Amino acid sequence: MNLLKESVIILVNQVKDGLIMTKINVILGSVREPSMGHRLFTYLENHQDELEAKNGVAINFIKIGDYKLAPYNEPFPPMATPDYVNTLDGNQKKWVEDVSDADGMLLLAPEYDYSIPGALKTALDYLAQGVNDKPVQVISYSMGKVGGLLGTMALLPVFQVLNMITLSHNMQLANIQNVFTADGELNPDLSDKEKTYYTDRIDGVVKNLAHYAKLLK
Ligand SMILES: Cc1cc2nc3c(=O)[nH]c(=O)nc-3n(C[C@H](O)[C@H](O)[C@H](O)COP(=O)(O)O)c2cc1C
Repeated sequence: MNLLKESVIILVNQVKDGLIMTKINVILGSVREPSMGHRLFTYLENHQDELEAKNGVAINFIKIGDYKLAPYNEPFPPMATPDYVNTLDGNQKKWVEDVSDADGMLLLAPEYDYSIPGALKTALDYLAQGVNDKPVQVISYSMGKVGGLLGTMALLPVFQVLNMITLSHNMQLANIQNVFTADGELNPDLSDKEKTYYTDRIDGVVKNLAHYAKLLK
């Protein structure tokens, strides 16, 4: 292999590693199995290449359920303890590092009891300096008619105290069970107009987040 080709490959890998390219985390905020939000998560995974190419970002997919996080039970609050990450157990530390590694966050958040799931709040309790000044956008969802708006509202004070930049153009996805199939495709029974609506809205959310993640990097 010649030197030029080798250098190009190294550069491409650096870009992929997020050293140069802006990185966005898509985070599934439900630990339920099966989760309705997992359908949206899978839709985004299915369109990863296209969304990355359109927006010039790398997208990383994370499910809070994979980290099996217990309620935060450390002697000091994260924000008062700059080195707290090193006191955490393996999965807890990995969660904080994985989230902090990105330049922006797209949170897929269900509404539970007019708020967010306890498991999502637990996951957010572990975060601190690593997300400071980073943009966050929410797609809330529910199986009901309002699309989890109260879940998004409940997240705002949490983002505020984490010093995150809360973006506009959040999306509330109502009746999620009718929008996506279990394998993350748009429901074939939707009309073309409805399919275009959902595609455009989701594209718009990713575009907005990518824009601010690059700007604030
Ligand atoms: C504990 C719990 C509380 C819920 N509370 C609400 C609610 O307040 N508003 C709403 O629209 N749907 C509510 N739902 C229904 C959810 O919209 C629906 O179960 C959805 O699939 C949750 O997302 P998930 O499957 O990704 O966890 C609730 C569901 C659960 C499990």
